Amino acid sequence: MRILNKEVWWSMGAQKIVVIGTGYVGLTTGACMAHLGHEVICVDNDETKINSIRRGILPIYEENLSELVTQGCDAGNLSFTTNLSDAIPDTNFVFLCLPTPTSDDGSADITAIIGVVADIRTHLKSGAVVVNKSTVPVNSANSLVELINRSDIDVVSNPEFLREGSAVRDFLMPDRIVVGCVNPMAGHRVASLYENVASPIVLTDFASAETIKYMANSYLAMRISFINEVASFCHSIGADVLEVVKGLTLDKRIGATFLMPGPGWGGSCFPKDTRAISRGADLTGERLELIETAIATNTKHQLRIVKLITDLAGNNPTTSRVCLLGLTFKAGTDDVRESPALIIGQALVSEGFSVVAYDPMQPRIPTHQIALVGTIEEALRGADVVVVATEWEEFSSLAAENYADAMRGKLLFDLRYVLPREKFAAVGLEVITLGQRPIREIGK
Ligand code: UGA
Repeated sequence: MRILNKEVWWSMGAQKIVVIGTGYVGLTTGACMAHLGHEVICVDNDETKINSIRRGILPIYEENLSELVTQGCDAGNLSFTTNLSDAIPDTNFVFLCLPTPTSDDGSADITAIIGVVADIRTHLKSGAVVVNKSTVPVNSANSLVELINRSDIDVVSNPEFLREGSAVRDFLMPDRIVVGCVNPMAGHRVASLYENVASPIVLTDFASAETIKYMANSYLAMRISFINEVASFCHSIGADVLEVVKGLTLDKRIGATFLMPGPGWGGSCFPKDTRAISRGADLTGERLELIETAIATNTKHQLRIVKLITDLAGNNPTTSRVCLLGLTFKAGTDDVRESPALIIGQALVSEGFSVVAYDPMQPRIPTHQIALVGTIEEALRGADVVVVATEWEEFSSLAAENYADAMRGKLLFDLRYVLPREKFAAVGLEVITLGQRPIREIGK
């Protein structure tokens, strides 16, 4: 492995880039590469999606992305098409930003990538580099080299580390850029595309680059599973988990991020990637038991939360109306994939509660059992219990008095530690958080 510094690069200037796939990774990659000065064509086989992006309507909500797309289109160095065969022959770099969903056995399904690469392989210009950004099983880049089977084409692995909600910032100001290659010249060419991004470039081999991606997500998921377990421990022992977090994160070896307890980790990445790497390791006979445990702990944590709510609120669940605040898997996104909020909401429905939900993003949800309403006031009206599942600012900025006026009951479960508990106590409401003593007991 080498950490490249910019003196060893040569500047290539603006390059022609094709980005295949316009999900949040592809769209962010395309818009940011255009922002860096390159000439970018984004391709997707979904005509409706491409037409709506062309009209300025993005398929996802992502901070600053819409502005970058508009800027690139207006400047003339960003365009969108469904026509792969027109875009490919003239380009120097092809970025693969395609979905790799969980297949039946838990591994990552790379059918979409294989299909596209098989389609484009003969149309690639001599000297072009195929850059994979999708999260793929370790050693997939080698399979792409074999599939392309052309000595004049290089493959480079360049995994993404983009958080939904801050994807643009993560692309333009990353902690590091990982470039996996066999041919260092191709690695340097891909590194040069990021010439205007100030961050270290980790130049390494294919398998290491692909492993870095999986282990970054797995490690962060393990940290959250760890702190959620600590929250339960604090709950049973009478310690305050937020005090514990403060005390832990001041230790520089532990670090300050991804140690916030909550309703468990979700989204389109941590669950899928931890499952995939566990499955991949299983197949090699080298089990990743810590990661397996982190997955199991995450599920157990959510069941524990449902039990806590049911035990404290469920004298008669069938008459209890739960107001669920937040449906997305975290704030700053409209994504509800594997969202803890939905999992917990659905479990409460199964327990017999009637669940009314509000989310500022008004996302589409895959169930009719949870009633989605248009305003927070509507969701709170007549609620016996409130569950705050996503850390949207709207929930913490609404005054405690407004909650008290609208609710029928007195209990709130704040799974994100965002409500000012003293203010709620002052208006007669009790905010329960996992791993903190009830507010009225403090100072006793
Ligand atoms: C994650 C990684 O952070 C990105 O680096 C990566 O590129 C991306 O997956 C991916 O593989 O594409 P993302 O899924 O957008 O990004 O979400 P995160 O911000 O990482 O949060 C994941 C989950 O952990 C959320 O449910 C969040 O609420 C939870 N979380 C996060 C906590 O419960 N506590 C924390 O302290 C941090």
